[in-house]
Amino acid sequence: MIKDPMSKYIPFVPLKMERRTWPDKEITQPPIWCSVDLRDGNQALVDPMNLQEKLEYFHTLVDIGVKEIEIGFPSASETEYEICRELIEGGHIPDDVTIQVLVQARPHLIKKTFEAIQGAKNVILHFYNSTSTLQRKVVFHMDMDGITKIATDAADLIYEMSKPMLEQGMNLRYEYSPESFMGTEMDYAAEICQAVLEHLHATPESKVILNLPTTVENCMPNYFADEIEYFISKLPSRDCAIISLHPHNDRGEGVATAEMGMLAGAERIEATLFGNGERTGNVDMVTLAMNMYIQGVDPKLDFSNINKIKEMYERCTKMKVGERQPYAGELVFTAFSGSHQDAINKGTQYMEESHSDKWEIPYLPIDPADVGREYEPIIRINSQSGKGGAAFVMQHNFGFDLPKAMHPEFGHIVQVETDRVGTELKPERIFQLFQENYIDAVKPYELVRHSFAEFTDEEGHSHVTFAGTLRHTDTVFQVQGSGNGPIDAFFNAIHGQKMDRFTFVDYKEHAIKQGSDSQAVAYIHLQDQDGRDWFGVGMSHNINLAPLKGILSAINRAAKG
Ligand code: KIV
Ligand code: ZN
Repeated sequence: MIKDPMSKYIPFVPLKMERRTWPDKEITQPPIWCSVDLRDGNQALVDPMNLQEKLEYFHTLVDIGVKEIEIGFPSASETEYEICRELIEGGHIPDDVTIQVLVQARPHLIKKTFEAIQGAKNVILHFYNSTSTLQRKVVFHMDMDGITKIATDAADLIYEMSKPMLEQGMNLRYEYSPESFMGTEMDYAAEICQAVLEHLHATPESKVILNLPTTVENCMPNYFADEIEYFISKLPSRDCAIISLHPHNDRGEGVATAEMGMLAGAERIEATLFGNGERTGNVDMVTLAMNMYIQGVDPKLDFSNINKIKEMYERCTKMKVGERQPYAGELVFTAFSGSHQDAINKGTQYMEESHSDKWEIPYLPIDPADVGREYEPIIRINSQSGKGGAAFVMQHNFGFDLPKAMHPEFGHIVQVETDRVGTELKPERIFQLFQENYIDAVKPYELVRHSFAEFTDEEGHSHVTFAGTLRHTDTVFQVQGSGNGPIDAFFNAIHGQKMDRFTFVDYKEHAIKQGSDSQAVAYIHLQDQDGRDWFGVGMSHNINLAPLKGILSAINRAAKG
């Protein structure tokens, strides 16, 4: 890098706007979506998609709900032509979907494109030529009039060639892109677009799409929104046009450009899944749509199964969706930080307790379930995780609602393991630690067999008698006791035994469903004579037995020290 970038780079000069209205607007409805995955996205792949891949991709876009799909550049190569023909002749295009075909504003390519679309029901014929100051200077060596003539000549030819197609009943519409619009003088951009509208005989009933690309993103999104507002204000036949944007992402601001451009009056967006496309890509349709969704605006696109869409995308394009890609990345529903985990935990509890339908969970801007993601991977435990993290995993991944007092002890067990292995722990390993440390703590004291007898007296008090056989290593012994419940009865039964050195502190029990199997899980909190806390966990299909197993689990853990 150089010390004085000004000596090398020409900064963008913002429009001087006296008044701008777009900052006060809001996005209240989705744009008309147009996918350019199969054209802009495809042309930017190391290995462009083959016919089968393009067909699969096309069908996925249809399933998502995209109604306008740019299928390619049929005049550019035989393969592109064939794909267009297969889509039309193979009956792949639903009646409510419009295919869009791209062509440069050059007569022989336009003619070939008309051949390619024969027999289609709904078509947008999209033609373009470059209009920017830079392109006029270094590529075309032409003045504005010359550039305008290219566009209007193409418009005349397209208009003429459309007549038989329209007579045959094709729903044929037009789109014009002043390519490199973002680097074009705005008055000139409006002038050339107006000329195109006139040459295509656009009317309010038969609008032409004016697609305004940031072919290379060159300014902050607010400056771009100024340009859009200005452009629209200078377009005499505004009511004959649909204003479309085609943002690229060179500055990493494609989404903001699209959003602010919509505030400034754009009604249509050309985008790709996960932002594939030339260089840094096109604007990401998923992010844009989901941004609207979590602002309460139905984007009219369905990303309920984002993993399936991602899998198709990665397979067909051989590109990877980044781990931190908004809404779709592997890690975007994962909290590593302990304080984040605690807050997510509290948010979840708050939602459950308040029975609120509103999504109010810190650090999770969207319910992962809305895009088909599970809570399961939300929290992975590493050495940075707080004591609540492991309990959260137990609750959300496995349905075990550990009592608060037990969180530090189990958190410590998990922490020791993360320190030992030096990596994060997956939920399955956390469950294993729970199982090994609590549920499997069945020795040295084992309950061999037992029975309960229960009756309720006239005053409604219940009386439980416990009789059981216990084993301590090789010694088998009988115990019996009564109390006001199974736990009390058991404690009285073991009174006087060697194991009788604990006081009962607390107990919690709930049902748990693992697969079709419903069981009771009991968490027992005991304290030994030295004031040390011991927790135990018991599970059983019998709600009386679960706490006894829990008590033995706590006693056995204490016996091991
Ligand atoms: O980025 C661009 O300018 C384009 C046009 C062809 C619309 O892809
Ligand atoms: Zn593009």
